[in-house]
Amino acid sequence: MSPLDPGAVFARMERMYRPQRAIYDLTRRFYLLGRDRLVDGVPARPGDRVLEIGCGTGRNLLRLGRRVPDLLLCGVDPAASMLAFARRRLERANLGGRVRLVHGVAERIEPERDFGVAAFDHVIASFCLSMIPEPLTALERALSVLAPGGTLHVVDFGSMSGWPSPLAAALRAWLALFGVHHRPELRAELRRRAAHGEGRLEEREIAGAYAELARFSRPRATSSARPVAWTPSAAAC
Ligand SMILES: C[S@@+](CC[C@H](N)C(=O)[O-])C[C@H]1O[C@@H](n2cnc3c(N)ncnc32)[C@H](O)[C@@H]1O
Repeated sequence: MSPLDPGAVFARMERMYRPQRAIYDLTRRFYLLGRDRLVDGVPARPGDRVLEIGCGTGRNLLRLGRRVPDLLLCGVDPAASMLAFARRRLERANLGGRVRLVHGVAERIEPERDFGVAAFDHVIASFCLSMIPEPLTALERALSVLAPGGTLHVVDFGSMSGWPSPLAAALRAWLALFGVHHRPELRAELRRRAAHGEGRLEEREIAGAYAELARFSRPRATSSARPVAWTPSAAAC
């Protein structure tokens, strides 16, 4: 396990995303499947604090901010030009006053230092954990900044188990060129935590497991938390 060097991540992500930032949303709508379902499944109420790790161009925060008024919309991303794009876009939508965007990495979020809040009511990770070399560290961080009663929502590339093997292998090889990998350890970790009563897990697969959605809900009061067995469910998440 190599030590995390945020400066190196900033440089790598900026190199990757700077040339694409203007066409990013147009192109990704065809293959980052499940993002709208994820965002629309966030049970946010006015005034809630929301964090997206790897917020990119801000399209998910924008969609959420348009649906629910008065949210505090926070985002962290190592690609400076994506963040600048997100900031402009959210300001244009008149959401700027309730937006806090930070140039950083998910693995090192400090809610108070970075966003001036103690915790978040909802955390989103959309096609971000698959490109983080140590995704369990980022997942752990995301869960640790979640307030009691809060929800974590993850959508990312799945096992592609419903796809013909050669096609799935070709797709995996193409994603690997960009440092993107299916991360089954994340699902396993969320299931482990749910089995230990740390929260309730709902999962769903999209398009033959091309993408996987997960919602992990923390109990309101940890003392009254009871173990909730994981069952593969088709619940909305
Ligand atoms: C595929 S894009 C997804 C952007 C956005 N979440 C969406 O759904 O459109 C992945 C994003 O994760 C960001 N990212 C990569 N490594 C990260 C890290 N260690 N911490 C936070 N974000 C990271 C990238 O800069 C990029 O903006």
